Amino acid sequence: MALNRVVAGWAGRRVWIVGASSGIGAATAELLLERGARVAVSARSAQALEDRFGTRALIEPLDITDHGAVQAAADRIADAWSGFDLVMDFAGTYRAARAWQLDPVQARVVVEANLVGALNVVAATQRRLLAQGAGGIALVSSVAGYAGLPNSLVYGATKAALINLAETLWLDLAPRGVSVYLVTPGFVATPLTAQNRFRMPALIGADEAAREILAGIERGAFDIHFPKRFTRAMKLLRILPYPLMFRLVRRYTGL
Ligand SMILES: NC(=O)c1ccc[n+]([C@@H]2O[C@H](COP(=O)([O-])OP(=O)(O)OC[C@H]3O[C@@H](n4cnc5c(N)ncnc54)[C@H](OP(=O)(O)O)[C@@H]3O)[C@@H](O)[C@H]2O)c1
Repeated sequence: MALNRVVAGWAGRRVWIVGASSGIGAATAELLLERGARVAVSARSAQALEDRFGTRALIEPLDITDHGAVQAAADRIADAWSGFDLVMDFAGTYRAARAWQLDPVQARVVVEANLVGALNVVAATQRRLLAQGAGGIALVSSVAGYAGLPNSLVYGATKAALINLAETLWLDLAPRGVSVYLVTPGFVATPLTAQNRFRMPALIGADEAAREILAGIERGAFDIHFPKRFTRAMKLLRILPYPLMFRLVRRYTGL
């Protein structure tokens, strides 16, 4: 059953992508441009956005942790386009860490980019989307949000929070005409995962991730997770009794 409105095509659709300078966000922006959407792109690195998108997209550099900057960019883009059809937050940061490596300063950076940043994007755009009674917001979580995993300290906690946030947003916004999408990738080869020193199961490319995301939005899905061969196993882990769940995680990761 479709929990969101089905999207028939992308030609002319107005899409703002935060976290578009590399990885999955950049690949999604490219795919949307290819399919005829109007695209605005944000990230901290103005140069990377310029180099990649030039005049093909509206370029709005920002730090997602700065709510004033996010609001100002949202207003400029929505004014230029007279609204949004879709707002996607890919901005995120990850540092592999075990419990004994917890650094409060670094932890704050991750929480602010991944969670506070998402709240800033929602706060800056939902009034306009609610007034339209149409359009959507996509938040990007991770399988690390499904269950506690070694090396996911802080990062996993922010991604679990994003699952909860997307669920809550859907309950409030969907009945008012605003679609909410929870995007949960498994492992995708991007600059973010390049630091991983372990074998990443079911690793896919950013282009494949972008295709999965757009296909999920087109069919009106709320829960857009991929690749299924990996994410289904991770979803199962989430509902197992803890003794079994912990045993399986330990056995699989060797940690
Ligand atoms: N790759 C995976 O396996 C995987 C799996 C599950 C979930 N995810 C999630 O997917 C999303 C995209 O990740 P990715 O793998 O594509 O990583 P990536 O290539 O490192 O892209 C992250 C993007 O976020 C932007 N960003 C980071 N901090 C920001 C800030 N404070 N303000 C504005 N923009 C910021 C980065 O640009 P600037 O540095 O220029 O700001 C970049 O455009 C993340 O939320 C990640 O957690 C990734």
